Amino acid sequence: MTKLLELKNISVYHKENIRVKNINLTVSQGEKIALIGKSGSGKSTLISIANGSLLPSEGNVIWKGNNINKISKRESSNIGTIWQDLCLIEELNVAQNINCGALSKHNFLWALKNLLGIIDKELCQECLTAVHLSKKDIYSYISKLSGGQKKRVAIARLLRQEPEIVLGDEPFSNLDPILSKNILNLLINQRKYYSIKIPETILISLHQINLINNFDRIIGLKDGKILIDRPFLDIKSSELDLIF
Ligand SMILES: Nc1ncnc2c1ncn2[C@@H]1O[C@H](COP(=O)(O)OP(=O)(O)O)[C@@H](O)[C@H]1O
Ligand SMILES: [Mg+2]
Repeated sequence: MTKLLELKNISVYHKENIRVKNINLTVSQGEKIALIGKSGSGKSTLISIANGSLLPSEGNVIWKGNNINKISKRESSNIGTIWQDLCLIEELNVAQNINCGALSKHNFLWALKNLLGIIDKELCQECLTAVHLSKKDIYSYISKLSGGQKKRVAIARLLRQEPEIVLGDEPFSNLDPILSKNILNLLINQRKYYSIKIPETILISLHQINLINNFDRIIGLKDGKILIDRPFLDIKSSELDLIF
């Protein structure tokens, strides 16, 4: 399998406060990985390291053979993140936010048109229906949406981005269970949704233990260290008790 992302001997610490320690992890193309662990175990830190937004105190992050700090902006758009705090632009409408996912694929003029009105309307609507929002929501302003709707717009923006890998920091935390299952099913089992290419590789953190059976590999963190890294089918429930 082609290696996409490699975390090599990663540690993050601030003075004596250790956030993650000696993390070694390789993600290959096509893998569906759930990252589990209690609050404070290091999930968000690991996701931020993996997408290159947080520099580790020690170790290297490699994206397709190159140091993640050295890759071009265009290449880095192949790494898609669903941030815990979503990073939506409250003053823009839903379509404009969704199109922000595709900024790196277009030029300045396209970005300017996106700021001035609604462009690529059908594509934005496909991304919205994929996350079970209504087509007419493209006109809504982010500031008027509920927490769960905002989360789904952030996922729609990620779909518009069409990255090679999805890194998600608790992407289903405030979605109801049926919606979470449906969106997870789209990410894990579908290759295409109308004209949108669904990312093949996913690494997402979860605290909903009932969703982990959808993944083929489980990584369990405890106190900043990897305690489990195994196929889902090999995990014993006693090991989950150690994590939680
Ligand atoms: N910006 C920060 N500065 C210092 N310590 C942090 C920071 N963010 C998180 N931590 C600490 O790092 C550890 C891991 O946190 P985090 O990665 O947010 O865990 P999780 O996402 O699993 O809840 C915790 O002990 C937390 O208090
Ligand atoms: Mg977190």
